[in-house]
Amino acid sequence: MKAVLLREPGGPERLEYADVPEPEPRDGEVVVRVRAAGINFADVLVRQGRYPQPPELPTVLGSEVAGEVDGRRVMALPRAGGGGYAEAVAVDDALVVPLPESATFEEGASFLLTFLTAWIPLTRMARVGEGSTVLVHAGAGGVGSAAIQVGKHLGARVVATASSEEKLEVARGLGADEALLYDGFEEQVRADVVLDSVGGDVFARSFATLNPLGVVVAAGFAGGWWEPLDPAPLVGRNVGVLGFYLGRLMRHRPELVADAVAEIVALWEAGSVRPLVGATFPLAQAGEAHRLIEERRSVGKVVLVP
Ligand SMILES: NC(=O)c1ccc[n+]([C@@H]2O[C@H](COP(=O)([O-])OP(=O)(O)OC[C@H]3O[C@@H](n4cnc5c(N)ncnc54)[C@H](OP(=O)(O)O)[C@@H]3O)[C@@H](O)[C@H]2O)c1
Repeated sequence: MKAVLLREPGGPERLEYADVPEPEPRDGEVVVRVRAAGINFADVLVRQGRYPQPPELPTVLGSEVAGEVDGRRVMALPRAGGGGYAEAVAVDDALVVPLPESATFEEGASFLLTFLTAWIPLTRMARVGEGSTVLVHAGAGGVGSAAIQVGKHLGARVVATASSEEKLEVARGLGADEALLYDGFEEQVRADVVLDSVGGDVFARSFATLNPLGVVVAAGFAGGWWEPLDPAPLVGRNVGVLGFYLGRLMRHRPELVADAVAEIVALWEAGSVRPLVGATFPLAQAGEAHRLIEERRSVGKVVLVP
């Protein structure tokens, strides 16, 4: 079968469209015929050699797919290490979820990881509801576009940041009450919860936005590694920081993640949220798709179609 192989870290041209053996399912696994594979920013970081827990190379990237198992339309999360950028992938049976009837495969490959990364922090870690303000960084991106919708669903006022006017418009279209460029955002918004997938100086500046008892949830470092944090000003201002990493939660609290999956799928089926597919590429053009994300030109999710 065809798949996209990464033999060595490097630029997008390292992604090689190649013939590989069909996956052989182990006990408890099923083979998904992939109809769409979602690209996550972590895949870009692995390809660049910047991910803290890299898989062994060579590898097939891709930790989120939609496709078919014996004629059933499903979404699925291949185990850590990936395998999704392929015509077929073996997946733990417990990580296979029916695809809502009205959804396309492209939407199905754009849903689980981003919405779990928005839903679990905003419902299990921070207090979000009527009267609270949530600041979502990179609001037009994958996680950001999910978090804006989740924040609105939970009744919060949502402020989003992004790097261009076009992306701010996308964030507003998703329901953000206000959308700001990164320059000086900390002077323009007061927040109870910040969902930060950007890191670097955006993370550091986010603390200045917090109301008393507010928290920053750190979920990613697309814009740069985190700066060291001194607890003294956090104590002095009654604010906090939380960290979220879905991969480890899936291993250590699978039942919590399964509950969250059921909750977000129900929200989608009720029409309260919907994944944003920003671009679709043939599987053979995975490098072009990575380039779009790396150069910060993508909105929503970018999807590969075998
Ligand atoms: N902790 C977890 O469990 C978990 C789960 C899923 C994802 N994540 C993390 O969450 C982040 C978002 O993931 P995603 O897949 O949804 O990606 P994404 O948001 O679609 O893409 C990354 C976004 O980060 C922003 N960005 C800021 N500085 C950037 C830079 N120097 N280069 C590229 N982008 C930059 C861009 O938006 P602007 O141009 O508007 O700034 C871009 O849209 C990633 O860091 C990812 O690793 C974490």
